Amino acid sequence: MKKICPSILSADFAKLKEEIKEVEAAGADIIHCDIMDGSFVPNISFGAKIVSDVNKITDIPLDVHLMINNPDNFIDAFYKAGADYISVHYENNFHLNRTVSHIKSLGVKAGVVINPATPVFMLDEIIEYADYILLMSVNPGFGGQKFIPNIMNKLRILRKKVTDGNYKCEIEIDGGVGLANIKEISDAGADMIVCGASVFGAKHRSEVIKKMRSLII
Ligand code: DX5
Ligand code: ZN
Repeated sequence: MKKICPSILSADFAKLKEEIKEVEAAGADIIHCDIMDGSFVPNISFGAKIVSDVNKITDIPLDVHLMINNPDNFIDAFYKAGADYISVHYENNFHLNRTVSHIKSLGVKAGVVINPATPVFMLDEIIEYADYILLMSVNPGFGGQKFIPNIMNKLRILRKKVTDGNYKCEIEIDGGVGLANIKEISDAGADMIVCGASVFGAKHRSEVIKKMRSLII
């Protein structure tokens, strides 16, 4: 089954527990945690303390998306905080194979992320080691941006590569996903679909998640 992954970046942090419980009850599969350092991306979000607190109040898996420089320095902290999935970017990582191996050695699913302008073929030498590949469908740094249209083409290219190569990795899409485009994204082969503003920005979040589920089953 496809996984709906609400990103708490767009949640109200003063009511984080209520907001997470609400999406959990509505059928969210994974909570996506966006970690930003103000250096790799032009915004700062939150760190391992919040992830650890979130882990205490939910049983659904936590997907930690590291948009930070020197991610290797923080992987163990996010593992200890309760991350079930940790993804790192291709663009700022000189030793990606080592980083992916380290994440997997902790028993955590290891993801590799590429930005919108990074071509899929850059994944050629890492794809067989990754548990998931995350295609950014906006430029990372902010919630609530518009889906970049040519990512649909990248998604189809990646889906074909994974299928033809018989790779085990899942495909995640992150940024600008809502009720209007989730079906097309799912049909094109995404397995894990992040949605921030379209869920937490909505008045009736459970309804949005339930509608999403009905569209991508
Ligand atoms: C962007 C983040 C996304 C973001 C998605 O840098 O990686 O996870 O929160 O938010 P929406 O769905 O609002 O584009
Ligand atoms: Zn993200």
